[in-house]
Amino acid sequence: MTAQIIDGKLMAQQLREQLAQKVAELPTVPHLAVILVGNDEASIIYDRNKQKAAEAIGMKCTIHHLDEQTPQDQLLDLIKQLNSDSSVNGIIVQMPLPKHLNSEQIIESIDHTKDVDGFGIYNIGLLHSNNSSAMVAATPQAVLYMLQQTLGDVVGKHAVIIGRSNIVGRPLASLLLNHHCTVTIAHSKTVNLSQITASADIVVAACGVAGLVKKDWVKPGATVIDVGINRVNGKLCGDVDFENVKEVASYITPVPGGVGPMTVTMLLNNTLQAYLEQNQREQNA
Ligand code: GUN
Repeated sequence: MTAQIIDGKLMAQQLREQLAQKVAELPTVPHLAVILVGNDEASIIYDRNKQKAAEAIGMKCTIHHLDEQTPQDQLLDLIKQLNSDSSVNGIIVQMPLPKHLNSEQIIESIDHTKDVDGFGIYNIGLLHSNNSSAMVAATPQAVLYMLQQTLGDVVGKHAVIIGRSNIVGRPLASLLLNHHCTVTIAHSKTVNLSQITASADIVVAACGVAGLVKKDWVKPGATVIDVGINRVNGKLCGDVDFENVKEVASYITPVPGGVGPMTVTMLLNNTLQAYLEQNQREQNA
């Protein structure tokens, strides 16, 4: 058996066309503000991609590129200014931040109605308590969307998530639980990891270890979603040994061209959602 490839690029393109149509019908242009501190090469590329994707669907995206040495207070001042600017609908601070900055305090300073990354405790609390008004982080949303498009629904499936980060593993576990999956979170201290993944209907690899998930870790017919982005000898690869795992899985995402393009799309979707909710609130006021 050879797995069917889940084409994230195509799914993203289709969803972006729908978003562009919705944006074209709005009276004003939704605006995403991206704060980038320092010169991390990958972050610069990610943020440029976000800006290009936003502009391609008719949204405005402003990148505030600050010096590596920017002090905490200056960053907090900028966020305060963006929080009170009614022309800004979404704010994200690109992670990781330089070591001297306190990421938690910075994330919590973003107005929760503009927290389109869904990283703040308010939105995490809503997600964790299965409240539908939660702003959910883009990558977990991308994973769920791809699973639903591929499998129809995920009810009753056993999903094993490898990785417990605040950006992917933890919010994805809540999201899949809210959609009636049986969820196991595995991590670097998990014992017998390969036996646990071999019992899964869905394996999500989000641990940042190139090629970790092997063919014999995956149950025949399972769906494998690879969130990893690693560079090995200059080549991009995921956390799954793609060439071998695709011989046993039913469905598998490639890297690149899998979860990545869908994540950016979900960020834009969150920005549109934030815009609509802010405008609704204004009308009700
Ligand atoms: N760094 C890696 N992924 C993300 C993301 O989704 N949002 C932000 N702000 N930083 C990231």
